[in-house]
This record gives sequence, C-alpha cells and structure tokens, in this order.
Amino acid sequence: MSDDLYAVVGNPVSHSKSPRIHSLFAAQTGEPVEYTAIQAPLDGFAETVTGFFERGGRGLNVTVPFKEQAWAMSDRRTWRAEKAGASNTLFIDKDGQLNADNTDGAGLVADLVKNHGVTLAGKRILILGAGGAVRGVLGPLLAEQPETLVIANRTPAKARVLAGLFADDAGDTQLRGCGFDEPAEVFDLIINGTSASLQGELPPLAPAVIGPATLVYDMMYSPDTTTFNRWALSNGAKAAMDGLGMLIEQAAEAFAIWRGVRPDTAPVIEALRDRVG
Ligand code: ATR
Repeated sequence: MSDDLYAVVGNPVSHSKSPRIHSLFAAQTGEPVEYTAIQAPLDGFAETVTGFFERGGRGLNVTVPFKEQAWAMSDRRTWRAEKAGASNTLFIDKDGQLNADNTDGAGLVADLVKNHGVTLAGKRILILGAGGAVRGVLGPLLAEQPETLVIANRTPAKARVLAGLFADDAGDTQLRGCGFDEPAEVFDLIINGTSASLQGELPPLAPAVIGPATLVYDMMYSPDTTTFNRWALSNGAKAAMDGLGMLIEQAAEAFAIWRGVRPDTAPVIEALRDRVG
C-alpha cells in the first residue's frame, strides 16, 4: 500500500518548512504519510485543491496567498476557521464535504503555554497588527481568557474593526483596537503579528509598554533575533521568543486532525532550530 498523500499549497512554496516538519512527524509516529509542496498558479488555487483531492489526496495545508480562498471554497468550517476568515488546513470529511480548519491560533497558544510555560489567563496582552496573521490567532488567544487584549495597528481603524469582530468572543477580557501611539501601560506579553520585520522595520511603540517582566513573541522567525525582539530586549524585556515553535505546533495540530495521532513537537523544534540557527 502506498502512503497517504498530503501537501502544502502556496505561491511561492519552495521555501516552506512544512514538508520537512510533516516527514519528521510521520517518521516519529510511524504514520504512512507522504507530504509534498505544490505551487498553485495565482489564478488556479481552487482547481489545484479539487484536483489534489480527486487524485486521492487526504489533506492540505494552505499558505500565502491562498488562506482566504481556502476558507471561501470550503463547505464546512470549524469555529476557529470561521472567525479567522482564513484556513490553513483542509480535508474531505466522511460525507465528502471540504472542511476548513485554522490551526495557527492553536499553534501560537500551544507554543506559548506548553513550550514556553507562559500563562495567558488573567494577563495583559498587546498584539501588534490587524492583518490576516493576527485575525487568525485572536479566537484561540481570547479563549485563554486574558484580562486585557489590546490590538494595535498602523491603521487604527483596522484594529478597531477586528476588535469589533471578536467582541462576542471576548468574555470577561477587555478587548480594544487602537493605533501604535496609544498603548502607554506595561503589558505582560507583547505579540508582534505585523509584517514590519520582513522589511526590517519596527512598529513605533512607546518603550513604556515594556517592563522588567514583559515577555515578547514575534510571530516571524529567523536565524538571528528578529528586529522586533532586539528592540524589545534592548528596552528591558525579560525574554523574547520567535515563531518557529508556532509553525511546528500549527503543523502538529493539522497532523492530529488528519491522522488522529499527536506528534511530539519538542524534537522537531530542536531539529529545525539547528537548521535555521
Ligand atoms: P498578514 O497576513 O501577514 O497579516 P496582511 O494582512 O497584509 O498580512 O497584514 C500586514 C500587517 O502588518 C498589517 O497589520 C499592517 O498594517 P496596516 O494594516 O496598517 O497595513 C502591518 N504592517 C505592514 N508593514 C508594516 C510596517 N512597516 N510597520 C508597521 N506595521 C506594518
């Protein structure tokens, strides 16, 4: 019997670490999984997905720039995918329907809570950015019931719209959107979800948001400390984490959905850290 077929679809996709991560999961769990990368034409995502499942493919991960299209073409969505407005995990269910999930937020929370031992409940959290990356993680972050969740963005109106979109999910959490110039109090955790680091730029935050116990998390990762994390550490943050663990945890969550088996992420994080580091 040949292995069950999975893939990540993106454009570009050759840089994706998902094939490496999922083959390590498959080797570790003994699951018969073959995982490849597929570059879909920018105007041909839906056809690529349909063709993959018609050929017997079992599950897809979806990356830039197709996550919103994956969401739009799905027949059924989990709550967290519905709220995210985007999907990174697709599969066909027993009724033959295309299911969309989003494991990015669960990946972030798992990396923070499980791998780094960070408690989110009752904490004051500042998240920077109001694009797809931030929208994708707000549901699972709110489910941890922080005391405060402030969304700050270069375009403040977009942060306020996002806060409004998640108002019903906030429970007792104080949730609000604003510009970068507004937060002036110290936060327990600051998460950078902007794409500013890609351009080597920094969100113009007041250093007053950082105290001696503040932790920072950059959803990007790189072999060197990211621009944002360097800024935070030089302004007195206690510790800085990057998004490699989130990447591996979101993959583990997808693997568990598809296979019903949860891989141990620690050795995979270590293996990839050695590579990027
Ligand atoms: P992603 O899917 O990575 O979230 P996106 O939806 O294009 O991509 O969102 C990018 C986010 O990074 C936005 O919050 C954007 O701010 P605006 O909403 O004001 O555009 C933010 N961003 C991009 N470049 C930035 C920069 N140089 N400084 C600060 N924020 C930046």
